[in-house]
Amino acid sequence: MNETPLWASESFWKKTAIWVTAVSFVILIVLTMDSLSQTTAGGKRVPAYAVINKKIDYQFNKELNKSVPVIGEDEFLFGKQMTEQEAAELVDLGKKTAQTRNCMNCHTILGNGAYFAPDLTKAWLDQGWLSKDLREDLMVKFLMNPESNARTFGSNRKMPNLGITEQEARGLVAFLKWMSSIDTNGFPYNFKTIEAEE
Ligand code: HEC
Repeated sequence: MNETPLWASESFWKKTAIWVTAVSFVILIVLTMDSLSQTTAGGKRVPAYAVINKKIDYQFNKELNKSVPVIGEDEFLFGKQMTEQEAAELVDLGKKTAQTRNCMNCHTILGNGAYFAPDLTKAWLDQGWLSKDLREDLMVKFLMNPESNARTFGSNRKMPNLGITEQEARGLVAFLKWMSSIDTNGFPYNFKTIEAEE
């Protein structure tokens, strides 16, 4: 008998290639949808922008064995409750300011960027802002003029003046507050928040 076995036939491998490609394609689509549902604002891990109206903390969860954001009661930013639309616009201004001033050239944002200056993922919750009453004001002043409002976050380096306007600084504060509410799978590790002092 001189019959070609199935695994040695050309048509078998052609069909296999088509099937593998088709199935991979479907898996890719499913995974993309899943990632989008977790990473878009209002999704599973990234709260909608109006979360900036709330108190945000980052606490260790024993069951999950990692720190998770904890969204609490009302705590308006700049003393004003914002609609989702207003919050989205302010956070967007902050995001754009962060991009145009290239904060990632020195800082990391969600772990991405440079290591010259502190990671900004939970900067909103940094104990360097002394108290929750002073925080917003100190952050705006620092961002507008970091040289004369230096807080020395342990790095002994100085942030240069980036020509940030007051409105842009407010946007950045909103952006940083919103970012601190993102479930980043326990990153950064072992971070003590400003809430922990109280
Ligand atoms: C040229 C480098 C550089 C750039 C660009 C830069 N920073 Fe900084 N930033 C620093 C340094 C250095 C510090 C630490 C300052 C200190 O300890 O006083 C810092 C500190 C900070 C802090 C306080 C950190 C904390 O842990 O709370 C915030 C918030 C911050 N920067 C935000 C920004 C934002 C937002 C941008 C972009 C608009 C930006 N920085 C761009 C160098 C930079």
